[in-house]
Amino acid sequence: MKFTLPSLLILLSSFFLIQSCSSERYEPAQDLREAMQERMSDVVRLREAYDNGEPMQRREFTRFAGLPNSEFVDDVSVYQAYFEIFDDMYEEIFKSDAPEKQFNIIIQSCYACHQDVCPGPLRAIKRLEITEL
Ligand code: HEC
Repeated sequence: MKFTLPSLLILLSSFFLIQSCSSERYEPAQDLREAMQERMSDVVRLREAYDNGEPMQRREFTRFAGLPNSEFVDDVSVYQAYFEIFDDMYEEIFKSDAPEKQFNIIIQSCYACHQDVCPGPLRAIKRLEITEL
């Protein structure tokens, strides 16, 4: 096969076009609040998948540990080790043979921490638990 210069240019430009369209690049959360909001939408998405009989598929997310928290909560430095464990448990949803059970463990853990540090979203979190297991 022989490439003429114009066809090569078209080929190249379409390559860049496709690249720039498909590169919906993931923007990591900048602080704990943003990461929490992101995770809230992710658990809502997973619960919807469960309700629709679809598999719980992993999407990119920002891990909690090491992120600065807002001025509205007490210092969360004591939670860093727990955040690491929590996010490893979160990853387990996508590896588990019973993802819905792992999902519930996560929801209960969100709830447990929020009872202590940040009661605002408690009701929204509680609603996500899969009660018919
Ligand atoms: C170990 C403690 C801990 C765990 C576990 C935890 N959170 Fe949070 N969450 C926090 C703290 C602290 C904040 C406040 C962050 C800030 O304002 O900087 C917060 C904030 C939030 C917010 C409010 C964000 C806003 O708009 O102000 C939501 C919603 C939330 N978390 C949902 C969740 C969900 C869903 C989970 C489980 C997937 C979860 N959290 C797990 C500690 C935790």
